[in-house]
Amino acid sequence: MAAKILSGRQIADAIKAEIAGEVRELRTAKNIIPALTAVRVGDDAASAVYVANKVSTCEELGIISEHRHLPTQTSELQLLDIVNELNRAPDIDGILVQLPLPKHIDEARILDAIDPNKDVDGFHPINVGRLSQGRQSLVPCTPAGVIQILKRSGVEIAGKNAAVIGRSNIVGKPMAALLLQENATVTICHSRTHELSSITSKADIIVAAIGRPGFVTADHIREGAVVIDVGINSVSDPTRLSEFFEGDELEKRLTAIEKRGATLVGDVCHKDAMNKAGVFTPVPGGVGLLTIAMLMRNTVDAAKARRDI
Ligand code: GUN
Repeated sequence: MAAKILSGRQIADAIKAEIAGEVRELRTAKNIIPALTAVRVGDDAASAVYVANKVSTCEELGIISEHRHLPTQTSELQLLDIVNELNRAPDIDGILVQLPLPKHIDEARILDAIDPNKDVDGFHPINVGRLSQGRQSLVPCTPAGVIQILKRSGVEIAGKNAAVIGRSNIVGKPMAALLLQENATVTICHSRTHELSSITSKADIIVAAIGRPGFVTADHIREGAVVIDVGINSVSDPTRLSEFFEGDELEKRLTAIEKRGATLVGDVCHKDAMNKAGVFTPVPGGVGLLTIAMLMRNTVDAAKARRDI
């Protein structure tokens, strides 16, 4: 039987509607309007799209937003000055420095400088530590979105075997911490893991976040497993598409490459997941949509926590 597709859009829309209601209530009852500043350095094309989407979602939900776009040659000290200014600004609730930063800037130094209570990405070591101890914290948006997809789709997490493929600070590590907090038995797999498929094929839940198109294939997936695909890879070579897709989906993707020059492919082989998984999040249309919704969640949570609400 074909896997059931979990729609990220429906879940993201539901979360955004809840947040918009909360923002309205904060404004009318307490005269508070949450505010987010996104800082982008340089001209990375993907970052430009991501930040534009973040800012427009703020507008949609009634959150104040500011996009500070700085030139590539901005120095580390100049960026630190801006972060410190935003830390001090009483009317700014959330600060987001879009990654990657230009190579001459030490990413860790910048992220460490953000006030942990305004750190809506959840990347500051204080928030990472809080998450690791299971305490209240601002949590990285993509893994927080995965938990929302699982919970709101009725997937049971407690007691299940979960395999996280990838160990990045943005997805893999916080994903493992959140699944553990939900009482899953968690294994983190990565590029040096031996016999990866023998581990993932025992998992009830697989979260793939390794940045390699179609890496997770049938032999990695247990029949009926829940497969969450966090990968977003742009593929422009039409001859590769039959590795990942079949039938109507293959036709759709070939047309996309013809029209737009590329198509987005996740870290999971779409056709294998459709044939073997029980439920599956597609790319695009899956986890990606939740990331921004959870950023909005964090911004409102930060605005409330800063005022002890
Ligand atoms: N670059 C890719 N993903 C992210 C993210 O979630 N936050 C930030 N700040 N940069 C990113």
